[in-house]
Amino acid sequence: MNYAVILMAGKGERFGGPLPKQFLNIGNKPLYLYTVETFAFHQDIDAILIVCEEMYKNRIQKDIVKFKIPKITTFITGGTTRQSSAFNALIYLNAVGKENDIVLIHDGDRPLVTSEIISNNIAAMQITDAAITAIPSANSLGISYDNQTISSFPPRQQYYVIQTPQTFKLGLIYKAHVQANQHINKMYYTDDGSIVLAYGKEVNIVRGSTHNFKITTYDDFTLLKTLLRFKNQ
Ligand code: CTP
Ligand code: MG
Repeated sequence: MNYAVILMAGKGERFGGPLPKQFLNIGNKPLYLYTVETFAFHQDIDAILIVCEEMYKNRIQKDIVKFKIPKITTFITGGTTRQSSAFNALIYLNAVGKENDIVLIHDGDRPLVTSEIISNNIAAMQITDAAITAIPSANSLGISYDNQTISSFPPRQQYYVIQTPQTFKLGLIYKAHVQANQHINKMYYTDDGSIVLAYGKEVNIVRGSTHNFKITTYDDFTLLKTLLRFKNQ
């Protein structure tokens, strides 16, 4: 089985506003549905788990009926961090799935993920148990320790911008999360690839796209609306 876990239990604090950003409408539908649709209509995705806050389950259920979205089999209640939201989904999958099932974990607020990126993530599972979407950094990077001056310029060629989906064999990602969760100084990892690396396993790169950016701020939202307007022309 190939499972997609769509994380959408965040509160969008950097974005602001009363409603979390993933529920804002663009055109006639909420932002998160652009994301979910790409997974739902992908031929190699078998089931979709939505991770959200309890209070939004009804709203999402209504949307999936209204927009006729297939394959959403399970709702999982999110946690207080991205890490715990993903772990909640993995606890469920570990109970119902098999060691070698494939799990794609994706941020609900990356609506321009493509079918090709999803296919390439799944294809990577032929050669590895852990693959994450990433793009080479187009910009030069600087390290600042005081937020005022740049202390060094790391070589750009070695830096990647990390995206999602991040894709794993179920057995590996579950065990890596269990270990991360048992850590005494619990770190709150912001992605799953770093949890697998901390577990001591190799993480492969799948090429992403600049359009597969995360909606974090209002500027991102404006850019998204512009891109979608041109796409639909
Ligand atoms: N996420 C989640 N559960 C959390 C926190 C985040 O499922 N407790 C999800 C978000 O909904 C999002 C993804 O993880 O799809 C990446 O998180 P981010 O972009 O940081 O979104 P928010 O946490 O909502 O935003 P902020 O950090 O500004 O509050
Ligand atoms: Mg966050």
